[in-house]
Amino acid sequence: MITLPFIKKKTSTIGLDIGSSLIKLVEIDHSGDVPRIVHFGFTPLLPEAIVEGEIMDRSLVIDGIRECFEQAGVLRNEVVSAVSGRAVIVKKVVMDKMAPEDAQEAIFWEAEQHVPFDIDDVCLDFQILHEDIGANQMEVLLVAAKKDMVNTHASLIRDAGLIPVIIDVDSFAVQNCFEMNREDVGEEEGKSKVVSLINIGNDVTNINIIQNNSPHFTRDISVGSDNFTESVQKELGVDYNEGVRIISGNLGEQDGDKIKSIVRKSSGDLSMGIERSVSFLKAAGDAEGIDEIVLSGGGARIPFLKDILAEKHGMEISIHNPFEGIDYEEGVFGEYEDKLDEIAPLLTVGIGLALRKAGKE
Ligand SMILES: Nc1ncnc2c1ncn2[C@@H]1O[C@H](COP(=O)(O)OP(=O)(O)OP(=O)(O)O)[C@@H](O)[C@H]1O
Ligand SMILES: [Mg+2]
Repeated sequence: MITLPFIKKKTSTIGLDIGSSLIKLVEIDHSGDVPRIVHFGFTPLLPEAIVEGEIMDRSLVIDGIRECFEQAGVLRNEVVSAVSGRAVIVKKVVMDKMAPEDAQEAIFWEAEQHVPFDIDDVCLDFQILHEDIGANQMEVLLVAAKKDMVNTHASLIRDAGLIPVIIDVDSFAVQNCFEMNREDVGEEEGKSKVVSLINIGNDVTNINIIQNNSPHFTRDISVGSDNFTESVQKELGVDYNEGVRIISGNLGEQDGDKIKSIVRKSSGDLSMGIERSVSFLKAAGDAEGIDEIVLSGGGARIPFLKDILAEKHGMEISIHNPFEGIDYEEGVFGEYEDKLDEIAPLLTVGIGLALRKAGKE
């Protein structure tokens, strides 16, 4: 009798992060003890392709996705991707205790009170955060996303020849990546830390305040690194590409003090978004404030921004390193291999998506 050798089924997930300035692809192999990045793609998009979360030029985006896949050299076509922006609402709600099957029905009625869109126009999802918060009530995380946007997103992926197996939310991908990389978020002086995860993209900033691996407050604001690029262009009279270079941390011959003052002036909207999220948190009675801010996304690399925000908000701020606790195949990052520090914060969403195991959302 011939015995076939035991072949370990390879389980991997492709995370596809379609940003307004860059498409990022990360494939993670989950078969070992430590998640391992096995493929990577990083493709810039022209600024006119996606504007404020809206797809303005479908074919540019589809070509970008295809190029990213080609560059990454992946062999499979199922992808986990995500949506973000104002058309996505994430809210913590309290409702009567019930079994998840019953909640499925009840959440529809619950959502009507919490979602500012016509309920027939949204896709709904939920997760029970706490099964029992007393008085026969449970706490549920409600996620509503405009059907239009989700359908457009899914059809874009299909038109690029891929299969969208999970459509997640950017903020949750950031949280997923953060929790994977940082196991020390637990207790501090007997109390679990309240951490504000701030993913600054090109157009949109995702704010997600978490405690004990569970979100308290999640919101996207229409501020991103592009606002800083515009200010730099205007104040220094440089072109768009030079503006992006400076905002990405390559100061070149530029005067650091001047850049610092431009960044400080441009950080008002972002700071206000942070302040507001803390006010909501306090008003909801969820926590007295935040203990720590962790930045990710391309905007985390804006020169001096981390220190300016730390000073403004009077707290510890760090830049997330999504590679902690993750392995990667040698040579997988190609020309970016020696620029890993630079691109690391930009890969947070893609890695968070690829960390989802197939069949487990
Ligand atoms: N090495 C880099 N290459 C390209 N852009 C960089 C780099 N480092 C920082 N950046 C900045 O990061 C921004 C892109 O960040 P990110 O990839 O997080 O945004 P995005 O996902 O494309 O946008 P959004 O999520 O808002 O749609 C660029 O606009 C640029 O300002
Ligand atoms: Mg993004």
